[in-house]
This record gives sequence, C-alpha cells and structure tokens, in this order.
Amino acid sequence: MKLGIESDTWGSEMRIVFATGNQNKLKEAKEYLEPLGHNVEQLLVAGKAPDFIEPQIEDLQQVTLSKLEQAIAMMPKSELSSCAILVEDSGLFIDSLKGFPGVYSSYAYKTIGPRGILRLMGQTKLRGCEYRAVSILFMQGKKIIKTGICRGEISLEITGNGGFGYDPIFIPEVSDGRTFSQMSESEKSSMSHRGKSLKALSEAISSPSM
Ligand code: IMP
Repeated sequence: MKLGIESDTWGSEMRIVFATGNQNKLKEAKEYLEPLGHNVEQLLVAGKAPDFIEPQIEDLQQVTLSKLEQAIAMMPKSELSSCAILVEDSGLFIDSLKGFPGVYSSYAYKTIGPRGILRLMGQTKLRGCEYRAVSILFMQGKKIIKTGICRGEISLEITGNGGFGYDPIFIPEVSDGRTFSQMSESEKSSMSHRGKSLKALSEAISSPSM
C-alpha cells in the first residue's frame, strides 16, 4: 500500500523506535530492518516499555493506528522529527470460533491461555486458523501500513517450548507438522504473519520509487 510518501522521508539509516513491550517482536523487527542499515530500538518511557490502551474494536488496523497515536503522544517532540516510529498489532483468528480470539488475543491469552483455547475447540476436526499482523511505520507525518497473514491449524495439544503466546498450539500450513514453538526464531520469522508484514515494510522503504 502506497500512501503518498515522498522519496526523501525514508532515509537509508533511520533510527526506528518500536512501540512494543514484547522482546520477541523486537527481535523479529531487528532481523528484518537492521540489515538495511536502520537501527531498531524499543520505545521506553522513564526507562520502561509503556502500556497501551487497546480499543475494543474488531479491526486490527484501527487498533494499530490507535497504538500509533498513543506512541506519538509519548515521544518528545524533538525526537519525533528525527526518528521513525514502528507499531504492530497482531492476533490469532480461529475459523470455527468465528474469528475468536482475534483482536482480543492478548486478553484471551492472559485469561484462558492456549489451554483454554484447546478446551473451547474440544476434538473438532475444523482446526483452521490464521495469525494476522498489521505493521505501521510512521515518520514526519507519513505512514506506511503493511499486513501479513500466516494460515495454519490449531494442534490437539500444547507442543514445544519456544516462541510466545499461542505458538505452542499453532501449526503453520507450510510447516512439516511442527508448531511455531518447535521452530527456531528465524524459521518462524520466515513464514510468520509479522515477518511478512515487516518484510513488506522493509521492501517499501528501500524501494527507489518511494
Ligand atoms: P498484541 O499485538 O501485542 O496486542 O498481541 C496480540 C496477542 O496475539 C499476543 O499477546 C499473543 O498472545 C498473540 N500473538 C500475536 N502474534 C503472535 C505470535 O507470533 N506468536 C504467538 N502469539 C502471538
């Protein structure tokens, strides 16, 4: 998606401040953006990753835009003109649960967790689902918005120790039957929803037509 971005907005060595409290997400963003010469750091306010209010609306992009507004408000004005802000929001959408937990993934994770999701699904054979991510890069009033989807299915049991969130119950379509939790970080990132949205962002900022 191109949003009227001028060629001089996106520099070759940007300081990118990522508004996330999740170290796994931070690593994934570094993996995609630092090889291009950018420096990715976490947004910290008084030394801590700030909390964001997640509006309870059923549109991931609107939730991500709301995070962006909050992040902009937290940044000192002097820094806003010299660095880019990265925000991302993601969720797990399960077909047989009509998209639940979706935009409520974070809340569902903290309350019922992956085991609760397995209980809700029981032994149903309808296990299709997808992770979705929306990543937005903002600089000097301009935004690039990119999405990523990773289809897969929900396993019958918790499997693996790596990753975070719903990774121990998510088997990506393109895998050999392993869950994301059984993969290395780079293997997961090569097929993940967030990896796809970050790859699209990195391509957009390095494209000469931007
Ligand atoms: P948020 O984007 O920080 O609001 O988080 C969304 C929630 O979706 C997280 O708390 C996780 O539970 C889940 N989620 C998003 N991406 C992933 C992923 O790559 N692996 C596992 N869980 C994820």
